[in-house]
Amino acid sequence: MVQGGTRTYANFDYAASAPALAQVTDRVTELLPFYASVHRGAGYASRISTDCYENARGSVARFLNCADDQVVVFTRNTTDSLNLLASCVPGDTVVLDIEHHANFLPWTRHGRRVVPAADTVAETIRRVVAELCAKPAALLAVTGASNVTGEVLPLERLATIAHQCGARILVDAAQLAPHRRIDLQASGIDYLAFSGHKLYAPFGAGVLVGRRDWLDAAAPYLAGGGAVTQVSATDAEWAPAPQRHEAGSPNVLGVAALAAACDTLGELDEQTVVDHERRLAQRLCDGLKAIAGVQFLRIWSDSADSVGIVAFTLDGFEPGRVAAYLSAEHGIGVRDGRFCAHPLLAHLGVDGALRASIGLGTSAADVDRLIEAVATLVAQGPRWNYACTSGQWNPVPETRPRLTSDAGAGAAPCTF
Ligand SMILES: Cc1ncc(COP(=O)(O)O)c(C=O)c1O
Repeated sequence: MVQGGTRTYANFDYAASAPALAQVTDRVTELLPFYASVHRGAGYASRISTDCYENARGSVARFLNCADDQVVVFTRNTTDSLNLLASCVPGDTVVLDIEHHANFLPWTRHGRRVVPAADTVAETIRRVVAELCAKPAALLAVTGASNVTGEVLPLERLATIAHQCGARILVDAAQLAPHRRIDLQASGIDYLAFSGHKLYAPFGAGVLVGRRDWLDAAAPYLAGGGAVTQVSATDAEWAPAPQRHEAGSPNVLGVAALAAACDTLGELDEQTVVDHERRLAQRLCDGLKAIAGVQFLRIWSDSADSVGIVAFTLDGFEPGRVAAYLSAEHGIGVRDGRFCAHPLLAHLGVDGALRASIGLGTSAADVDRLIEAVATLVAQGPRWNYACTSGQWNPVPETRPRLTSDAGAGAAPCTF
């Protein structure tokens, strides 16, 4: 803490990146001594690494109950997966204006049509239907759960609507996959993307799952080794998906970690996970509601489900300053800013907010600490000084130690 002493870190930033599950760490530790090139060697370590990499596709397919014609492509993260799919779509893509930039910007290059969200889910869906009926589109690209408010859309219904209008559906499941079981066959979802680092597997791998035909017909996402079956001086014969889109040496440790997370989460009882996060999110909302000046962010008045994300503003307090105070004086990590969802924040009429996101490791005691810290700020103000440099609020002076290897490194300016 800036004022001296230590506190156990209360992590309310699972929606950004979640800490590794013990099972994930164990899988990576087990594989590390055998880490070697994938698909490229006859050595024993290379065979082990290749098996691990290829078997990971089965873990993902089981986790999502993929259909037979759906391929698992390993990527770097959700952003990479969505850019890859955007390069394969043979027509227009319809999106809402509530999306994370990762599910908004890639489609600009390929006939993006933006539908403004309404105040209710019902009216928003009517607008989507109108857009899809007005002019054919190849794809409807929607978020599974908002990264700002946690609200969940009725995906099965949207899949049916997309199909009735001759389109396919892509779900950006970066926020949904860590919180809800997704059944691709039962829901009718054609394409789905998520990131390992939000699924308790922080080693840099992501996934795009989807129907083979578009992926096989498209130009390779990256040109290079591993994506081809035959190359001459003038020509190349490209492999079908998934290899077609996985050129270069793959991230075998990241993929092994992601598969371990899928195996572990797939074995958890879904209702227990949902109850845990709903109970904590409700406790947090009830506690914050009692504090003067707290305003919650919500897109729809009739959304039926939310994952464990609570976004709010505090009248009279800059979000970045509140986040710096929570970190410096209370050891609490939250996210502040515009959450890579600028159109949504503009739609909601705010230019910044705080986001507390809940995960498997969050406890009621953590929630109570956060509520108490916000209440203390409103009642008494901060006990430390804070200054904003390059858009980032920091305690002044900063007295907390850094990791020895990072000491002296300057913080790079960033915008979110
Ligand atoms: C809904 C949503 N989509 C996409 C992304 C991008 O994920 P990544 O940074 O892992 O590519 C995020 C990240 O926060 C997200 O919340």
